[in-house]
Amino acid sequence: MKLSVFCGASVDGFLARPNHALDFLEAGGHEPHGFEEFYGSVDVVVIGRKTFEVVLTFGEWPYGKKPVVVLSSRPLDFSSVKGGVVEQMSGEPAEIAAQLKTRGFQHAYIDGGITIQRFLAAGLIDRMVITRVPVLIGEGIPLFGPLPRDIELRHVATRCYKGGLVQTEYELGAAQQSPDSG
Ligand SMILES: NC(=O)c1ccc[n+]([C@@H]2O[C@H](COP(=O)([O-])OP(=O)(O)OC[C@H]3O[C@@H](n4cnc5c(N)ncnc54)[C@H](OP(=O)(O)O)[C@@H]3O)[C@@H](O)[C@H]2O)c1
Repeated sequence: MKLSVFCGASVDGFLARPNHALDFLEAGGHEPHGFEEFYGSVDVVVIGRKTFEVVLTFGEWPYGKKPVVVLSSRPLDFSSVKGGVVEQMSGEPAEIAAQLKTRGFQHAYIDGGITIQRFLAAGLIDRMVITRVPVLIGEGIPLFGPLPRDIELRHVATRCYKGGLVQTEYELGAAQQSPDSG
């Protein structure tokens, strides 16, 4: 099973403002940058509890009928999710990835700062597509954080968009993966 990250961040590396606002992502002018194609290629979405809480404020469930796994160590209330397919998991990223693989999923979309950081630290991410929007916001929820060791990235491509988005795609080699990552 493949695990991918596809996210938008400010040039100074934030996924959201400290209050979780995402307004700054508009600095790129909402130009199409491959998200629809990426989304069509995944068969399960894995998000952290904090991302889930932000998504609930959107009013409309944005994931359609795609299975969504929300990670949290505490009980979650999914009663306000209308029309979506959602469940909860928790545990080590390797255990979560193994469960998803056992269930036949082939491509997981890993999203949320802490969530991405935990899967990265466990050596489980195969591909990262980071779209930098042309703005500095100074503080916020970071995409990256502390790591137990360096993680080397293989640069695949960098794409520049008219509105100022700069998208960089990386592959993470098998050599980066921990022995139990499967
Ligand atoms: N710009 C973008 O493309 C983009 C993309 C995604 C998200 N965001 C934004 O990023 C912010 C959220 O990111 P975040 O870093 O604050 O948090 P997050 O990763 O969304 O959620 C973190 C929480 O997820 C749970 N979690 C993660 N891994 C777990 C595991 N292996 N087992 C059990 N629980 C696990 C924990 O919940 P508990 O504390 O409940 O145990 C943890 O506190 C939101 O504002 C969201 O809108 C932006």
